[in-house]
Formats: sequence, C-alpha cells, structure tokens
Amino acid sequence: MSDPLMDGQAREVMIKGRVIAVFRHDGRLYAMDGMCAHQGGPVAEGIVEHGCVTCPWHGWQYELETGIQTVNRQPLQETFQIRETKGNVEILI
Ligand code: FES
Repeated sequence: MSDPLMDGQAREVMIKGRVIAVFRHDGRLYAMDGMCAHQGGPVAEGIVEHGCVTCPWHGWQYELETGIQTVNRQPLQETFQIRETKGNVEILI
C-alpha cells in the first residue's frame, strides 16, 4: 500500500486473493478480513468509532484490534498484523 491512509480513513486491498480492510483509527493501523463474517459485507465501508467498525450491511460490529464481534464476544473477523515502515504499510497474512 503506497497511498497514504489518513487518520479516520479505511481502504480495501487485495492480498493473495483475499479482500483485506485496512483502517487508520486514532493514529493506529489495523487490518482485518474485508468481508464481513455475517454475509460478506464490505467491512472497510463501515463506520469506525471507539475502536470498532460497524458493517454497513446489517450492523454487525467488530473490534478493530481483535476482530471480536461486540454482541456475542466471539472472534469472528480475522485480523492481521500490520506495520508501517518509512511510509510503506506491510500486512502479514
Ligand atoms: S454482512 Fe456484515 S452485518 Fe451482515
């Protein structure tokens, strides 16, 4: 990912044939499966607040850090390590 992602923004990227949602929230980067565990909604298009993203299709909400679904507390959404080095963002999947 070479285009800068500003705080409060999210983006979908394709890596190894998978859709990954990347977020920069409160200055931190997060990466998770970009297809919602419920019915495949576009997680990167969700609203982000208080460290969670809400899927735009039916409102399932996941913690950015863990992928835990906030109602049933299960880790339904896979998350990935992400780091930024000299302006380049790397996602480990
Ligand atoms: S597809 Fe995400 S909440 Fe239904």
